[in-house]
Amino acid sequence: MRDQIFKTRLTDMLGIRHPILCGGLGPGVSDGRYVAAVVNAGGMGFIVHTGYEDPDQFLDEMRLCRDLTGGKGFGVNLYISRVPGSVEKIIARIPELVDHGCTVVETAGQNPAPVLPALREAGIKVIHKVPGVRYARSVAKADVDAVIVVGNECGGHPGIYQIGTMVQAAQAPQEIDIPVIIGGGIGTGSQIAAALAMGAEGVIMGTRMMVAEEMWPSRAYKEQMVAANGTESVVIKKILRDNHRVMANESTAAVLALEEQGVTDFEAYRPHVTGVLTREGYKTGNLATGTYDWGHSAVFADRIEPVEAIFDRLIDDAMQAGGRLRNLMLPA
Ligand SMILES: Cc1cc2nc3c(=O)[nH]c(=O)nc-3n(C[C@H](O)[C@H](O)[C@H](O)COP(=O)(O)O)c2cc1C
Repeated sequence: MRDQIFKTRLTDMLGIRHPILCGGLGPGVSDGRYVAAVVNAGGMGFIVHTGYEDPDQFLDEMRLCRDLTGGKGFGVNLYISRVPGSVEKIIARIPELVDHGCTVVETAGQNPAPVLPALREAGIKVIHKVPGVRYARSVAKADVDAVIVVGNECGGHPGIYQIGTMVQAAQAPQEIDIPVIIGGGIGTGSQIAAALAMGAEGVIMGTRMMVAEEMWPSRAYKEQMVAANGTESVVIKKILRDNHRVMANESTAAVLALEEQGVTDFEAYRPHVTGVLTREGYKTGNLATGTYDWGHSAVFADRIEPVEAIFDRLIDDAMQAGGRLRNLMLPA
């Protein structure tokens, strides 16, 4: 494992070696084993709370993570939904998070305000993720510890405005006082160095990590990601104002055809976007159907290897980027 080379408000806040967050990955992809590997490699990972049919399985994942990290503290990803009763369900589970060693949550979806008092009370740090600086501004006024801003390149949900990471990375730290973490298309150390140079306190990655050895999706899935160059990434469901960046396949072709026809009834889309297909594809490696979150940074996921090896290469590359910049600067 590489030494700590960056000290930021994020590394201090979470007590982590590297300013690298590995975002929650559904359905059930960022599990206890993977998140423990991220924590042990010096970053912070988030076990996804949603997607477990059996609620006890989520507890098992937290137990496993605590055991594998020797109690270092880890993260949980909480999806804040508009569905009536879902906020109450999250609040009811907070004592379990504390009991199992969760120290920080990554919230996403709706505004986290309703769950903040209970998380504060429990002593859990809150980092809220948004797909645009405009949302980050209002979140920064709430009682959160940090905000993640992801740009259009991100795997998953890039939001409806589709502003790129390079622009948001430069804009967000200028406008927001609380620590800003930047994501969307990040998969190299030079990008980490650039994000920090622009004022971010850290970065978040999802797609780049999908080749981690500790992750349960099949080797066949990971080999397809290694072979990828990012051009297979496509945004679907724009017509529903639920932009979703995924890997192009038969299901996305069917969805885009419905969008072309102007269909706005979600029921028509449901058979193509159901998580059941996605889980199956991760297991078998047959990715013809299902929706697989997949950003442009697939191009950087160039080998199947442990999380720690991925981190080592990122840190080495970030060091080199710093050196390149210093060499280009004329003496004062
Ligand atoms: C396979 C996959 C699944 C994801 N699932 C979730 C999720 O369930 N909840 C969430 O908040 N973000 C999810 N994300 C988004 C990531 O946490 C992260 O914000 C994003 O991947 C960063 O952009 P990048 O993919 O360009 O690195 C997912 C991303 C990927 C690639």
